[in-house]
Amino acid sequence: MMSRGKARAHANIALIKYWGKRDEELFLPMSSSLSLTLDSFYTETEVVFDSKLDRDYFYLNDKLQSEFQTKKISKFLDLFRIKKDIKYNALIKSVNYVPTAAGLASSASGFAALAAAANVASGLNLGERELSIYARQGSGSATRSIYGGFVEWREGNSSENSYAVPIDDAKWDIGMVIVIVRKSKKEISSREGMKRTVDTSPFYNAWVKSSKKDLMEIKKAIWDKDLEKLGAIAEANSLRMHATMFGARPPIIYFKPETIQVMEIVKDLRSDGIPCYFTMDAGPNVKIICRLSQSKIIKDRLKERFEDEQIIISGPGPGISYL
Ligand code: DP6
Repeated sequence: MMSRGKARAHANIALIKYWGKRDEELFLPMSSSLSLTLDSFYTETEVVFDSKLDRDYFYLNDKLQSEFQTKKISKFLDLFRIKKDIKYNALIKSVNYVPTAAGLASSASGFAALAAAANVASGLNLGERELSIYARQGSGSATRSIYGGFVEWREGNSSENSYAVPIDDAKWDIGMVIVIVRKSKKEISSREGMKRTVDTSPFYNAWVKSSKKDLMEIKKAIWDKDLEKLGAIAEANSLRMHATMFGARPPIIYFKPETIQVMEIVKDLRSDGIPCYFTMDAGPNVKIICRLSQSKIIKDRLKERFEDEQIIISGPGPGISYL
């Protein structure tokens, strides 16, 4: 007995961040978030349930992964196995497509592609909303990678009503310039970082409160196609998220000197009349939101300080596809 499924999912970058869980088992967030799905980064995953396998085997970029890595995947696939009463082990083959070794291997595209592939292989055949609920239980940000363009993850208050909703197809002049300042793996995972922040930062509640306001305002800016407003909100939201981390104990500082350098260049570009805005996640790399038509000018300016392969341009990307 054997059944297979294969799918592709694109990475996403949050403009209103998800940082903190209300429920760690179910991956329920403390607040809603909003992202842009990217064209240039994606994951393709195949899942085969096979009665002949003695255990789960997980290959990432053609390399067999350790038991520890495989455990996370097995646990996630169990959601599907339990639902459909599947007793078989699985072969999982996953490939991350990133321009250059960007170190941006994303759990968002990873778990979204895995969820979609398992959806077919298990015969569960969930619709996209249900699938975003499943993807969420692999990694919170994966919830949003089910859809393309601008996507909101509504926090909800139970597993059934915490899912993603597409907000806008982003088929207008919008894009991102990603600056890879460090390729190495992050020192503190987002999972650990957000927990520590929730548990110890006195600024955390203030961030959640201001994030709710940011979300309302950014949706209006998106619908108005108002890049200046959208960018200003996203930039502030990201900085405030990092401010909560500075207040944690021990503090969490993801920035490197180059992170600040890019922030300065972005500010300079703005004073030259080019609207562009930075956002940083759980690492030192910087994502710049801008008009796609001006991304080349931005890249050229960054090239005065950084290597060509450190700077990646991406347009908005699509939602999951079945292969
Ligand atoms: C800073 O989704 O990686 O990128 O749910 O624990 O797997 P887990 O965390 P993850 O956190 C992403 C945090 C972020 C902001 C965001 O993408 O919204």
